[in-house]
Amino acid sequence: MWSSLVLAALAQEAPPLVDPAAGTAAFLDVVQVLQSPRCMNCHPVGDAPLQGDLSRPHAMSITRHSPEVGLPCSTCHRVVGLPLPGVPPANPSWHLPPANQVFQGRTPAALCAQLKDPAQTGGRDLPALLAHVRDDALVRWGWSPGGRTVPPGSHEAFVAAFATWIDAGAPCPPP
Ligand code: HEC
Ligand code: HEC
Repeated sequence: MWSSLVLAALAQEAPPLVDPAAGTAAFLDVVQVLQSPRCMNCHPVGDAPLQGDLSRPHAMSITRHSPEVGLPCSTCHRVVGLPLPGVPPANPSWHLPPANQVFQGRTPAALCAQLKDPAQTGGRDLPALLAHVRDDALVRWGWSPGGRTVPPGSHEAFVAAFATWIDAGAPCPPP
């Protein structure tokens, strides 16, 4: 009969499904997407969202605090009514993430540690993060951004690389 101690030991020693080197390589592909403008522009260092392929600070001094002072993102990023020309997109959840979910200016090693720390992912563990990058409307917007450039590779390839990284035991690149 298996004791729970034996089962726990077996679980810990189960080899990863994917070679760690392949996992690290897949993570570097993930980083290329996270730091592409369509994603990074909403995951900035600091309080201002970024705009365009040069990731300049948002015009009109918009910050994460604008909604608190009566200027919701949806004033311009409209969900109802007529769309404003050139303004992305019609998406009900268009807003900035919490200030610690930063993709801008991080090394791959730092991003890796960050994604493995639920305190910096809105409480998501790795399976929940995978579901987020597969299903979330804002992530999916990145590949249909209305006349803007898209991240490198397809959304499917991005999700597959994310899964490969997790299956390899979520190895981090050297600092
Ligand atoms: C309009 C702004 C916006 C855009 C564009 C955007 N995100 Fe996010 N992102 C958010 C918000 C808001 C959250 C927090 C959602 C939550 O916690 O429920 C988030 C959370 C995340 C998370 C989980 C938390 C973390 O940072 O570890 C990941 C991963 C993520 N986004 C990836 C992406 C990727 C990949 C893209 C581009 C393809 C992207 N995001 C584009 C706003 C955005
Ligand atoms: C006063 C109108 C207005 C408000 C309010 C506003 N935006 Fe924007 N936003 C724009 C316009 C216009 C653009 C397009 C600028 C361009 O690409 O030249 C834009 C573009 C963006 C982009 C760039 C998309 C990309 O990848 O190029 C992001 C990110 C963004 N806004 C986030 C936000 C967030 C988050 C809020 C709320 C905190 C917000 N905006 C509030 C008008 C607004």
